Amino acid sequence: MTRTDKDHINKRTENRHLLRRMKTGLTAVKDTPYKGLLLGAYLTGAVLVWLFRGHLFSLDNYGMFSPVLEAVINLLLPLYSVGGLLALLVLLGTPWGGREAREGLQRVGLTNHAGEAPVLLSKYADGDNPRLTVWEFDPCGIPLKEWEDKRARVETALDSIIAKMEWGEGRKIIRVYAVPAASDLPALLPWKDKYLSPDNFVLVLGESLLGPVTVNLAHIPHVLLGGSTGSGKSVLLKLLLMQALRKGAEVYIADFKGGVDFPKAWHGKCHMVFREDDLLYVLGQLTAVLEYRKGRLAETGCPNIDAYNEATGDGLPRLVFACDEVAELLDRTGMDKEQKERASQIESKLALIARQGRAFGIHLILATQRPDATIIPGQIRNNLDFRVCGRADSVLSQIILDSTAAADQIPKDARGRFLLHDGTVFQGYWFDGDGI
Ligand SMILES: Nc1ncnc2c1ncn2[C@@H]1O[C@H](COP(=O)(O)OP(=O)(O)OP(=O)(O)O)[C@@H](O)[C@H]1O
Ligand SMILES: [Mg+2]
Repeated sequence: MTRTDKDHINKRTENRHLLRRMKTGLTAVKDTPYKGLLLGAYLTGAVLVWLFRGHLFSLDNYGMFSPVLEAVINLLLPLYSVGGLLALLVLLGTPWGGREAREGLQRVGLTNHAGEAPVLLSKYADGDNPRLTVWEFDPCGIPLKEWEDKRARVETALDSIIAKMEWGEGRKIIRVYAVPAASDLPALLPWKDKYLSPDNFVLVLGESLLGPVTVNLAHIPHVLLGGSTGSGKSVLLKLLLMQALRKGAEVYIADFKGGVDFPKAWHGKCHMVFREDDLLYVLGQLTAVLEYRKGRLAETGCPNIDAYNEATGDGLPRLVFACDEVAELLDRTGMDKEQKERASQIESKLALIARQGRAFGIHLILATQRPDATIIPGQIRNNLDFRVCGRADSVLSQIILDSTAAADQIPKDARGRFLLHDGTVFQGYWFDGDGI
């Protein structure tokens, strides 16, 4: 593209936006009282100038030239007034900080092939969450994917932390939801019982800039939780299991770390599994329950456990199986033949629950810190749809989220800070694990 082509495109974009700003200004005058007043003051001024033009311009003092001067003023005054009106509308339709935003984006390289950066169309506080500012941009042909890829740069340009970006007005504009850079998520959010969701079967994880982050196991049945050591996996896992217990689920926990993570209070309320032989037995029981429930649902023609419970009044509980380091169950390195056989049985039972558990109310919450893609087989991994990753290196992030985003976005010293598969960053609630 030649320099002249680029200049033509830039000119046309500017003209288009001038018109758009005028239109926005007109709506703003109707919607915003002080802008309406400003326009009213301008129009009153213009009418007064018109009415008193004779005095203002002292037309009588110019003798024979007076009629000529009057004609000129009669012609020019309306032209100036209309010009002024249009300029005022453009001004009222121009968002604060529009030029800074555009220059900032240009500097960080979010530009199209004609060298244009996106144009800020408007900027306002979000109606649902007043902490958030919504920036509406004409993307000037830059696709949302590129914005996502350059997220960190866009944040620098806007001096904000982005909560989400999405298309608006049928892909005509891009909306960026953000908070000022200084107002990051808090480092500690203590859990309070009032956060417990009343909805079946919704578990709360923490808070993002957009509000609470939840998972509904009735819709997304299984959770895969990753993060390097000390990232906050065990705290989050306990937070989820505590809520599952309170909602009446039966919880099974495989804990081969010698019980350090789950203090005594848990042992009375959950089925604890400390040995691998017991684990196979427990998973065998869970898959047997799955088969049993399959039969019951088929007999009664119910599509899922909630419908079944409602139809029969049986009150079958949801069952949650959790493991804090799933890689340890499945990694065959250094195992003898018998142990390998056991590991593959464990794997096939987990895979069955992962594939079929949803309708029958049997759930997996599996955590790992091991950046080893081969350890969690696709059969299991592909069915764990709710993916959460804490601080991690790019390999672990890739395994959990299918992208390196957690390595890029979670600070190295962050604890309890997680990234969701959909790009949401959140601070997990801090739960000490005793009060269950
Ligand atoms: N939600 C949170 N908010 C604030 N701090 C947290 C949070 N979660 C964890 N932490 C801090 O991080 C520490 C490590 O947390 P946790 O034991 O859950 O990590 P982990 O990922 O399970 O580590 P490991 O892989 O070594 O078991 C905790 O002792 C706590 O100090
Ligand atoms: Mg842990």
